[in-house]
Amino acid sequence: MPDLTINRRALLTKLGGASAIAILPAEALADALEHELMDQAAYGPECSEIDIIKVGRDVRRGAGQIFDKTIVPKLYKMPERPTLIDFFKLRFSEPTVSHCLKSAAHALNEGQPERNIMASLVHDIVINLIKTDHAWWGADLIAPYVDERITWGVRHHQALRFYADAEAGYEYPELYRCVFGKDFEPEPYIQNAYSQARGHQWYMEARMITLNDTYGFTPGPAPDIDQFTDIIARNWRQPEQGLGFDDSASAHMWRTLLNPERPL
Ligand SMILES: [Fe+2]
Ligand SMILES: [Fe+2]
Repeated sequence: MPDLTINRRALLTKLGGASAIAILPAEALADALEHELMDQAAYGPECSEIDIIKVGRDVRRGAGQIFDKTIVPKLYKMPERPTLIDFFKLRFSEPTVSHCLKSAAHALNEGQPERNIMASLVHDIVINLIKTDHAWWGADLIAPYVDERITWGVRHHQALRFYADAEAGYEYPELYRCVFGKDFEPEPYIQNAYSQARGHQWYMEARMITLNDTYGFTPGPAPDIDQFTDIIARNWRQPEQGLGFDDSASAHMWRTLLNPERPL
């Protein structure tokens, strides 16, 4: 009979402490126990504990804001069939909500087409989930629910942000000189994405996102999501089952946003 003893204290730490365990669904806790036993079976209890320490400390840049308790300290209870507005009000981090709302409000005040307003509203929401290559992830997250031009624009806005367009009124962001260094050359895949987008008929879909994006950093309180209710209703295909439960190609991403503490 193999030794199936669990290091209780180490497991508690790994799962976020006793209070986090208290709100874990039974199935999630069972999964966590099973995973722990699998680790022990593969590496032995000592190695398993080393791995636990690493899990707590070595978080790479792929982790989005929802996983950082200093940015999103509390996960509010979500409705059974959550909508995009529910995510804005109850789940997304304050910095992403503020940035996206300010970008979209600029588009609205400028009288831009609803498609551009909607694109700006959702262009960075995926940063809650993941930061690296956020435009590609962001496009995948929204693709089942929006016009394909919105998805295309969101996918290309990251590459376009590295390239000025004087005619469109877009300058290279000063912020990037700080983040990437003043002699930064975007990687080849960014260069390729840009050159493909530059000659594309939908170029302005992405360029408008980058223009509106610069207004997303304006200091001051964020606009209210409720002023976008009608635009969302006309430009977002809300699934009847709720985001995360409609079996779409990105439903798993919405479920992760709903429950970022699920161990597996
Ligand atoms: Fe972005
Ligand atoms: Fe942005």
